[in-house]
Amino acid sequence: MSISCADFEYICQLVRVRTGIVLAKDKMYLVESRLAPVASAANVDSLRKLVQILRQERFSSLHEFVVEAMVTTETSFFRDDYPFQALHKLMLPELFRVRQSEGKLNLWCAACSSGQEPYSIAILLREHFSQLTNSTVQLIATDISTSMLARARAGRYNQHEITRGLPSALLQKYFLPQGKDWQIKENIRQMVEFRQLNLAESWSPMPQMDIIFLRNVLIYFDIETKQTILGKVKRVLHPEGYLFLGGGETTINLDTDFEPVKFDKAVCYRLRSS
Ligand SMILES: C[S@@+](CC[C@H](N)C(=O)[O-])C[C@H]1O[C@@H](n2cnc3c(N)ncnc32)[C@H](O)[C@@H]1O
Repeated sequence: MSISCADFEYICQLVRVRTGIVLAKDKMYLVESRLAPVASAANVDSLRKLVQILRQERFSSLHEFVVEAMVTTETSFFRDDYPFQALHKLMLPELFRVRQSEGKLNLWCAACSSGQEPYSIAILLREHFSQLTNSTVQLIATDISTSMLARARAGRYNQHEITRGLPSALLQKYFLPQGKDWQIKENIRQMVEFRQLNLAESWSPMPQMDIIFLRNVLIYFDIETKQTILGKVKRVLHPEGYLFLGGGETTINLDTDFEPVKFDKAVCYRLRSS
């Protein structure tokens, strides 16, 4: 299904207003391929008709389907590995030592997609810090996408998803087979509190965070939106806390209040002490 320039512009504007995501001009093919199934599900035989319906209505579930179809939700267990090694070997032991008297440790996966990232952290906590209870750690995971949050809450993954990044020993220990899929065990599922949060809009109250994973999402925003989001991250991040971004993302040239810190092969960001 092909899309006209005017309809492409409409979709770009819709996606940008709802999510902050900027679709580059050369992404017409992406819009065509991702919206074809939405058009079929809506029983229309062209993207022209789909956009015509969208233009006629106020924001509806069809607009939401379109926006969700345009969001990239690529993720995997223990993605890029190094941040998880740094968490395990350096940050969590240090933070638990410092926080021992203060009680809770707060971790936040912003843009958690279908849940592999927060569940990787939950498994890591259970695996290496077994003395911890759910009352000493709060692990919040958020995303804009209703469908991704539903998948994340369910904690059920197919064979392809489960083999991406998850060592088989951890699969055997923390998942149960369910038909052709794998279900994360209840004790891990319960460690993560999923909430809907649009990073590009105002944020509902969050506890002060010791660790923030904000990975592989800033790349989709323009500079101004990235700076606004980092400004809000600064207010939520504990002065001694750590921010992880995706491999292709950085705070450099966006916000000088953050400084990169290298731990082995992982790079994360801390607030400069004033
Ligand atoms: C590429 S995935 C990254 C998932 C995970 N953080 C990782 O690195 O594997 C990007 C996620 O960002 C979410 N997202 C996009 N725009 C968002 C926004 N404005 N607010 C919150 N989440 C957003 C998408 O729904 C998607 O799940």
